[in-house]
Amino acid sequence: MEKLLIEGGHQLRGTVRVSGAKNSAVALLPATILAGGEVTIEGLPNISDIDTLKLLLEDIGGTVSQVGDDVTIDSSKMIAMPLPNGRVKKLRASYYFMGAMLGRFKKAVIGLPGGCDLGPRPIDQHIKGFEALGAEVTNEQGAIYLRAEKLTGAKIYLDVVSVGATINIMLAAVRAEGKTVIENAAKEPEIIDVATLLNSMGANIKGAGTDVIRIEGTEELGGCKHTIIPDRIEAGTYTIIAATKGEEVVIDNVIPTHLESLTAKLREMGVVIEEDGDSLLVRGNRKLTGVDIKTLVYPGFPTDLQQPFTALLTQASGTSIVSDTIYQARFKHVDELRRMNAKIKVEGSSAVISGVTPLEGAKVKASDLRAGASLVVAGLMANGVTEIVGIEHIERGYDQITEKLTSLGAHIWREQMTEEDKRLFQNA
Ligand code: EPU
Repeated sequence: MEKLLIEGGHQLRGTVRVSGAKNSAVALLPATILAGGEVTIEGLPNISDIDTLKLLLEDIGGTVSQVGDDVTIDSSKMIAMPLPNGRVKKLRASYYFMGAMLGRFKKAVIGLPGGCDLGPRPIDQHIKGFEALGAEVTNEQGAIYLRAEKLTGAKIYLDVVSVGATINIMLAAVRAEGKTVIENAAKEPEIIDVATLLNSMGANIKGAGTDVIRIEGTEELGGCKHTIIPDRIEAGTYTIIAATKGEEVVIDNVIPTHLESLTAKLREMGVVIEEDGDSLLVRGNRKLTGVDIKTLVYPGFPTDLQQPFTALLTQASGTSIVSDTIYQARFKHVDELRRMNAKIKVEGSSAVISGVTPLEGAKVKASDLRAGASLVVAGLMANGVTEIVGIEHIERGYDQITEKLTSLGAHIWREQMTEEDKRLFQNA
């Protein structure tokens, strides 16, 4: 196992290219199950969650081939193989196999999903949607069993705005008889991306990206080609990094409107950000002003950027308050940032950050994906060397992070973990 080392304090400049969106990719791949033919997805990120999903598609009889970042999945020979255990537990997005397999085969057995530990992450809204479409859903020994004689379109009001439930219901509803209406749907760009793929496969989905999505069921879907949207969270992470350490950093392959909640806050803090088509030019500022943020559903400030943004706020003057309304316990990064000398208190679902506090390199542990990103941001700003263990969490979502940061001038490298690191990792 490897750890990540960062010698902080170096100024960054150059261009970084953003990869395809992880949270789209993890839904697009299961969606290909519905095609019953060949689907090519162009621009997939090179991250471990995608590797796991490709293996899961092969487990159920799919053929997966890859040329560069383009992946072709032939789903014609797939079967409704039960997946109660094993790889499905590695990531949260395996829950999309429920909707896609239910849509295609009218049955599925899928182990309850894993993913980042951010506190309670129920899937009751997914299940409510499947049941409304006519499926019988039971939970047996940690796996969800879904079965339907037939799926029938329905009106489904989501009690909680959920990205996963909105996409999962779309996946099943495209093969239901008649019309499905999802009300109080999530509006994240990833939902539009999945709807675009499904429509290219022959589905009839209208309203994706608004809070009412209308789906007319279709008997057959087929193969197609689709280009994934850029990863707004990866783009946001590099924008945050450039906000202090960037002399002049270009973030390339972004959709600037996807990042408006972040760029507006960074401008309030004193960062100069210029948009130029599908890139952002970021000029960092060493005298940042503290701000408060509250995470919200899209287009509000994304919870997935809360952790890296918290690290940045340690370098901003005054007191800043970060409140997470989506995952109220998403603060595992705070203890690690404190090891680096950050002055942060967690009060309920908020973190109160006192700045400016010089950060010091330390041995820290990434407990989840974005906590890892937060430690990378902190390490780049700190004096001395920061050692991050638990980098497999970071590799789940950041494509070639070491290489990309090195190309900007960061001093970042990997080393094998020592026995002492392993002890720290296990006991932490
Ligand atoms: N919720 C329920 N019931 C449900 C579903 C969700 O109560 O049936 C609650 C959740 O507990 C949470 C809120 O609703 O409080 C929003 O959850 P949502 O379903 O939108 O989250 P998700 O689909 O499980 C995706 C991303 C997360 C991201 C959230 C919010 C994927 C695979 N994951 O999760 O990404 O934080 O949306 O935007 O798409 C990450 O990339 O680091 C990550 C955790």
